[in-house]
Amino acid sequence: MFSSRLFRRKTLDHLLGETIEPERQLKRALGPVQLTLLGVGAIVGAGIFSTIGTAAAGGADHTGAGPALVLSFALVAVACGFAALCYSEFASMVPVSGSAYTYAYATLGELLAWIIGWDLVLEYTVASAAVANAWSGYFQNLLGMRAIRLPSLLRTAPFDYKPELGRFVMTGSVIDITAVLVVAVITFVLVRGIKESASFNATMVAIKLAVVLFVVGVGAFFVNPANWRPFAPYGYAGVQLFGIPILGKTDAGGHPVGMFAGAAIIFFAYIGFDSVSTHAEEARRPHRDVPIGIVTSLVLCTLLYIAVAAVLTGMVPYDKIDIHAPVADAFRLVGLPWAQFLVAIGALTGITSVLLVMMLSQPRIWLAMARDGLVSRGFFGAVHERFRTPWKSTILVGVVVAAVAGLLPLRFLADLTNIGTLFAFVVVCSAVLIMRKLHPEFARPFRVPLVPFVPLAGMGICLLLMLSLPPENWTRLFVWLAIGLVIYFSYGRKHSVLARLRAAESAKQE
Ligand code: ALA
Repeated sequence: MFSSRLFRRKTLDHLLGETIEPERQLKRALGPVQLTLLGVGAIVGAGIFSTIGTAAAGGADHTGAGPALVLSFALVAVACGFAALCYSEFASMVPVSGSAYTYAYATLGELLAWIIGWDLVLEYTVASAAVANAWSGYFQNLLGMRAIRLPSLLRTAPFDYKPELGRFVMTGSVIDITAVLVVAVITFVLVRGIKESASFNATMVAIKLAVVLFVVGVGAFFVNPANWRPFAPYGYAGVQLFGIPILGKTDAGGHPVGMFAGAAIIFFAYIGFDSVSTHAEEARRPHRDVPIGIVTSLVLCTLLYIAVAAVLTGMVPYDKIDIHAPVADAFRLVGLPWAQFLVAIGALTGITSVLLVMMLSQPRIWLAMARDGLVSRGFFGAVHERFRTPWKSTILVGVVVAAVAGLLPLRFLADLTNIGTLFAFVVVCSAVLIMRKLHPEFARPFRVPLVPFVPLAGMGICLLLMLSLPPENWTRLFVWLAIGLVIYFSYGRKHSVLARLRAAESAKQE
């Protein structure tokens, strides 16, 4: 009885039926182009402009791949591609808010759905904070070019995480004030409404794509092929089993290094395509347009990323790549300061649009969980009368993201985001297999090809990437999930709408 309650699943009719209540419905305003732009808006940002430095460079305190980073990008693209196909099958079958959370509810049951929903909260909150943090870094870099410096107490988070020491150190600052302020502005834009947000996003995306193409087009003239040798200075592996090396080398601090380890770091650059599926309920033709949006944005970003990685590692020897503003700094090193300025502006724009989409997606996951009664319906389920946006949770998300971004460092936040997101991908890939077995009869306007190979390969690569991250991230993931379980057993399980429905049905039968 107890376990059957935990594994109660929603039926598809139930899922599709629950978006009908008009006062709780979101506006259907998005077509395939806007969805692709939302995808690119969520994907190209802090990863390609900031994290690429750590992933490419070697050294004592970071675990890079060297020029083999182009292979790391390709490997992650394959993993994300497999996961993207699985997301697309679900988004076309269940075109409602909630992404992986909703899919898990229909397949794996309420407890696992809650776990994955809680994991998505981690992904989006922590990723938004990481991105706001990177925004602040580039903004201050830009101010620095004009010889302006913020007071030292307001420049960065008060703590920095040093993986090689395995602990936090104090930075001497109190709060990263620019990270807090940018989150406040984005929150205001989001509360005003999805249409306004989508057109703001389209402008940002156009600017950042132009700058990425500039980096590739102009940077290509400064490539020295000698910089691509040795191609994989740290090898092609870098996989650990909770701290025990099983494939490849480790650095002085015992963290995995090599092409796989670089892939686990640069995975951050791909996060975001899954957020397209959280907008299924706002899509005009979700069955067709959501898969198009997911797959197109992923393919486009992969091509751009591989080109940027090849150009960057060709412009600068891998052990000289800056880890704070790597792409802008590469142009300084080849003697083009004006290009450095342009790239910094582009990075800032790119990172802004990522922040926008990340913070746009999260309240929609809360909305899905609120509809199910797993969190407060009055708060997280409230849609603004005039703006038709989930305004209360948008403001809450803004406050939490601002606090986390102001107080914690980028590297810590990026690694945590990666492990949380990889976990979500593993669940979605497995859910496709389970759903095909349990409900082969459901209409699937988009079907994953080569089942079971694609979902199994997606799960396998994502698990390997999880093992290539510094092992302390597993502990953090487990702590987060444990907090989630406490909330579920003290609130969600008792307030579950599905539980009440099932109870009413069985009372009727008796
Ligand atoms: N993919 C997103 C970025 O790189 C999270 O900023």
